[in-house]
Amino acid sequence: MSVSEHEPESTRWPDSGNEVPLLPVGRLIYASVSQVKGSALDEMRRIREHAIANNQGHGIRVALLNMCGWFVQWIEGPEPAIERLVTRVAQDTRHHGLTVIHRSHGKARLMRPWIGSIVQTTETSADFAQRVFALKERHEMGDVMEPASVWLSLCSPSDPDMPAAGGAYPRVMLLPARRAVSFDLINWLARETSRPLIRRRFAGSSEDALDVESDYLDLPGLGPCGVRIVANARKGLAMGMTHAFLPNYEAVVILLDDDAEQNHRIVGKVLSACRQVHHTPTIIGLGTHLSVTPDLQTEVERQGHAWLGITSPMSRPDLADYWEVLEPVLDRIGR
Ligand SMILES: Cc1cc2nc3c(=O)[nH]c(=O)nc-3n(C[C@H](O)[C@H](O)[C@H](O)COP(=O)(O)O)c2cc1C
Repeated sequence: MSVSEHEPESTRWPDSGNEVPLLPVGRLIYASVSQVKGSALDEMRRIREHAIANNQGHGIRVALLNMCGWFVQWIEGPEPAIERLVTRVAQDTRHHGLTVIHRSHGKARLMRPWIGSIVQTTETSADFAQRVFALKERHEMGDVMEPASVWLSLCSPSDPDMPAAGGAYPRVMLLPARRAVSFDLINWLARETSRPLIRRRFAGSSEDALDVESDYLDLPGLGPCGVRIVANARKGLAMGMTHAFLPNYEAVVILLDDDAEQNHRIVGKVLSACRQVHHTPTIIGLGTHLSVTPDLQTEVERQGHAWLGITSPMSRPDLADYWEVLEPVLDRIGR
């Protein structure tokens, strides 16, 4: 899947650029079996049209996942409005067997009226169903999980080799200052380590917002718990899904470029996204002695983030050179 160079600054939602709401909200997650026969992406786009028209007026924000023949919807907003939406959506013939797997009141995470995600894996519908019902059982037994953890454990389960159970390992985001180097690096890493690379595609949340890809890889050998590396495109930073999960990241690695202006632009975008979700991950600038500059460090530290500048001794580092200097740092982050 190609990654476009086009970078929308926002999705032009009326609430684009807002901070995530600070007051507690109702939160509900249901799973249902998809009845969609044709393209899941087309159907997601049709659902998006309804959601755009309806959700915002009721103070509702949702994330919708399509995976393994299932839908999973995470809804935030006033509890009565959530109940009305679930009652309405339950009658929709595009799915059946709607099962609530999480219900709680607490911190909001979703910043947009609708965000969509399609995850392509080889997992069977029956195996996915088992994971859905295990989560439902945990919830009914009174095990309190955050909705973001429920969602992550469904759409991006840990590799069985990861030492820490239940996703309790650091997540690190890879972002490129230019081109799609984050995807080049993660693809190279998957080949080098023979680890499975999971590809996910997020549907744009409005007509003018493009779909973006985000791939991840679990590296069990880093730190005591393993580390998950997630590659994103720059335009992914404008996506509601990235905002929703930004607080789950320990660090953001920015693959810096020779062009200082591009470097400042991406650092500025990362800092702005972090401000919106009130999160201060470590920012790692990875590049050469020319691209890792003190002014980037000043900019990052001014916002209260820890900064790590990692330089390759090579003047034109290739992917292996980058990994050679990044790996020990990620190993330390995991400790
Ligand atoms: C999995 C799934 C999720 C949906 N999510 C929403 C939603 O968040 N908001 C919404 O208004 N409609 C959603 N719909 C569509 C509704 O079921 C229904 O078709 C639509 O709200 C009817 O809208 P209308 O009253 O504008 O015709 C969803 C449908 C499916 C199958």
